[in-house]
Amino acid sequence: MSSSVVIGAQWGDEGKGKIIDILSENSDYIIRYQGGNNAGHTVVIDGESFILHLIPSGILHKGKTCIIGNGVVVNPAALIEEIEKLSARGIRVEKNLLISEQAHIIFPYHWKMDELREIAKGRKKIGTTKRGIGPCYTDKVSRCGIRMADLLDVNIFSKKLKANLKEKNAILRNVYGFKGYSFNAIYKQYMNYREKIKGYIKDTTLIINKALDKNKRVLFEGAQGTMLDVDFGTYPYVTSSNSTAGGACTGSGVGPSRIGKVTGVVKAYTTRVGEGPFPTEFSDKLMNIIRHKGKEFGATTGRPRRCGWFDTLIVKHAVMVSGITEIVVTKLDVLDGLEKIKICTGYKYKGKSCKAFPANIEMLFNVKPQYEELPGWMSDTSGIQSFNKLPRNAVRYLKRLSDLVGAKISMVSVGSERKQTLKL
Ligand code: GDP
Ligand code: IMO
Ligand code: MG
Repeated sequence: MSSSVVIGAQWGDEGKGKIIDILSENSDYIIRYQGGNNAGHTVVIDGESFILHLIPSGILHKGKTCIIGNGVVVNPAALIEEIEKLSARGIRVEKNLLISEQAHIIFPYHWKMDELREIAKGRKKIGTTKRGIGPCYTDKVSRCGIRMADLLDVNIFSKKLKANLKEKNAILRNVYGFKGYSFNAIYKQYMNYREKIKGYIKDTTLIINKALDKNKRVLFEGAQGTMLDVDFGTYPYVTSSNSTAGGACTGSGVGPSRIGKVTGVVKAYTTRVGEGPFPTEFSDKLMNIIRHKGKEFGATTGRPRRCGWFDTLIVKHAVMVSGITEIVVTKLDVLDGLEKIKICTGYKYKGKSCKAFPANIEMLFNVKPQYEELPGWMSDTSGIQSFNKLPRNAVRYLKRLSDLVGAKISMVSVGSERKQTLKL
């Protein structure tokens, strides 16, 4: 089958952007199906770095159709900025980008609520990106959201915006003491956005299904990672969409029988941005070493990423809930200088072993990770060009990861450039 889904199998930022960029070469359509501009997907081409937030990473290849699916929540201001920035760098967006008419639109009251809710939560905050993602998905599920199709119909748009503002302003004023928003200002601003994006809005579900009928190669680009999935992640420290492979179907309008393979991207260690449990998190010394070697700072918010050892339980969980058929291991080079490397093979809670990834968040905060230790390879892998040339201990580490998580490795990445990729 000519379609495949690529997802993050940890907490996001596994290097999906780079891998999507590589796989895009052999794809015709690249589709983002969930999340919004909370994502930051980095692609480095000959030293030049591109960070994509909403537009599929496939846009950097000429002539590929890139689609923002119905499952994505779109901030038009962020989208326009991204289109303009890419265009200014010589990337042709106009002919190659389509947006689903069913995608929901983010409004200023969404990001304001995101921010105010986080402040109100105090120490219990989620650590969101404050991009209004959660509140926008809340409106979608509450059936009051405003979609791209509504933006095309000025009367419907105006009615829906008025109704929403009535409710949102009351909440903003009475619960959070914020002055609220004026209809006229938002209406005018969004009519401006409408002019700039209306040409991209299409029935993308039909377009994708027709492409599959013609055996076109379709690549689904996941955002965030499995542990941020609203159902299967470390709830409530998650994002508000399904970042697992199932999201590709609901977020694009393609049936499960049309999905061929599922690739899980994993870092050779683990990172997460934001609050919440992280059983294998490093202590300060190692945290600093890996954070600086791996340049672990958020691509969207610039926040330092929390780093830790590779956690087999979460990746096994990802393999199960997404039906991952193969994994890609990124950032192997970041571990180059370590004498010893640990892999978490299980957790203990109150002296008892956990057989599977626990759903109870309090348990997750208090589990004791169980480790297996492997010797490091203590040499530079960033210039290596084939899997067979990797140091023996690096191969041993990768094989062990693969065995433990129960999925074969299809690619290994040893640097951010396209050429620093070893195909198996
Ligand atoms: P994404 O959200 O999964 O696309 O990942 P991000 O782009 O947010 O973060 C991954 C970061 O790691 C980016 O800065 C990439 O350029 C970089 N990167 C990707 N693969 C590798 C690799 O194998 N080695 C190193 N050193 N950096 C990598
Ligand atoms: P990519 O696609 C890493 C995290 C936030 C926070 C939680 C909820 O680059 O992997 P949200 O703003 O989504 O409501 O925040 O999710 N988060 C990410 N962490 N990479 C991302 O995207 C993320 N998108 C959201 O830090 O903990
Ligand atoms: Mg990222």
